[in-house]
Amino acid sequence: MPMDRYVITGKQRLEGKIRTSGAKNASLPLLAASLLVEGKSTLLDIPRLADIFSMIEVLENLGAKVDFQGEALIVDSTDVSRWEVEETLMRQMRASNLILGPLLARNGRVRLSKPGGCAIGSRPMDQHIKGLKEMGVKVKERHGYIEASVDQLKGAGIYLDVPSVGATENLMMAAVLAKGTTTIYNAAREPEIIDLQNFLNKMGAKIRGAGMDVIRIEGVDKLYPTEHTVIPDRIEAGTHMVAAVMTQGDVEITNVIPEHLEPVSAKLRQAGADVSIGDDYIRVKSKGRIKGLDCKTMPHPGFPTDMQPQFMALLSIAEGTSIITETIFENRFQHVDELRRMGAHITLEGRTAVIRGVDTLEGAFVEATDLRAGAALFLAALSAEDATVLEKIGHIDRGYENLAEKYRNLGAKVLRVSSEGSV
Ligand code: UD1
Repeated sequence: MPMDRYVITGKQRLEGKIRTSGAKNASLPLLAASLLVEGKSTLLDIPRLADIFSMIEVLENLGAKVDFQGEALIVDSTDVSRWEVEETLMRQMRASNLILGPLLARNGRVRLSKPGGCAIGSRPMDQHIKGLKEMGVKVKERHGYIEASVDQLKGAGIYLDVPSVGATENLMMAAVLAKGTTTIYNAAREPEIIDLQNFLNKMGAKIRGAGMDVIRIEGVDKLYPTEHTVIPDRIEAGTHMVAAVMTQGDVEITNVIPEHLEPVSAKLRQAGADVSIGDDYIRVKSKGRIKGLDCKTMPHPGFPTDMQPQFMALLSIAEGTSIITETIFENRFQHVDELRRMGAHITLEGRTAVIRGVDTLEGAFVEATDLRAGAALFLAALSAEDATVLEKIGHIDRGYENLAEKYRNLGAKVLRVSSEGSV
């Protein structure tokens, strides 16, 4: 499929204010959770992104009616009788697997194609399935499909071998309508899990503990439609913070929850940037060339894997040598070859990247291999000498709303060229 490209002329200092959109990774489970109620859920600040549109298609495929009305996204799940999602829809986006828990809770049955590996790793679903089995679900994995059914979900004690974000969310959404209490041990602690808890509790669920590693869910008989505003996107905001530093800029990022960005703020300060925190904004000011550092991705509140590629771009132009260790995904270094094309000095040894900082990157023809790799190359291009042509930006569209426009407002020179050739 042809995709648009960005043409970016680098070395423009970014300055001004930029508003962060609602969080993609919080919106996706909220949309899935809307399947749990009969009636209309109202979701505010849902970003208009390719991944969100994919999830909307999945919900519509199941029988829900979904409609943007001004600022609000209305999901009417009154008639959700289907329990199978078309394979092509499942293949568009891995996170479609978040319907597993809600559909089992709602209809007791679900069939979906098993997501394969993706650009960043193999990404199994064994923890989702293990937890559901503990809750009494019969799961068959055949011909590339997961088929699951249950008469009545029952509460259970579930220990996750890895604190998977998706598994924690799926199990929470199954457990809210189960009989009895479910306890998830070694749960993921990401802010998006807390947002899901808040939404479900507004619907009448009884969940405590999200944000910590033990979550308790007391099953209830019924849930009710409600209204909720999604939290700001901490990864989008983190990307803007790095952009400010890489362009020697001074940028105020609004609509953020600063605590969610603590791992990113701490690393930027360590690198020598000036990061000041307000109630709902963060201002990042460059104080000259940054210093290299070491960084290891970890589950929240550790340094997020979704910021690793952007930091790799940043450290490519730091003074001295940096080491990045990726512990979450086994293959999340696809941006390395592209950054090298722009003049970065990076060597890979297993899950570790050694980055020897260069004075500047240079514009080149590069392509986005996945969403955050695309973001990293976008940032590299903003800082580089001359122009960069960034291809396959459909990957970036999956997770960033109006990126070119937002950065043009800060002084960047970015053109989006459509695949037909028009600008
Ligand atoms: C979510 C985010 C993604 C982010 C990731 C890690 C969404 C929509 N996506 O993805 O942007 O990069 O968290 O912060 O929220 N694992 C297993 N078995 C399982 C499930 C996961 O071994 O059943 C492993 C994965 O292979 C990976 C690690 O656990 O190594 C983390 O994955 P997980 O937290 O599940 O990521 P997602 O929920 O898919």
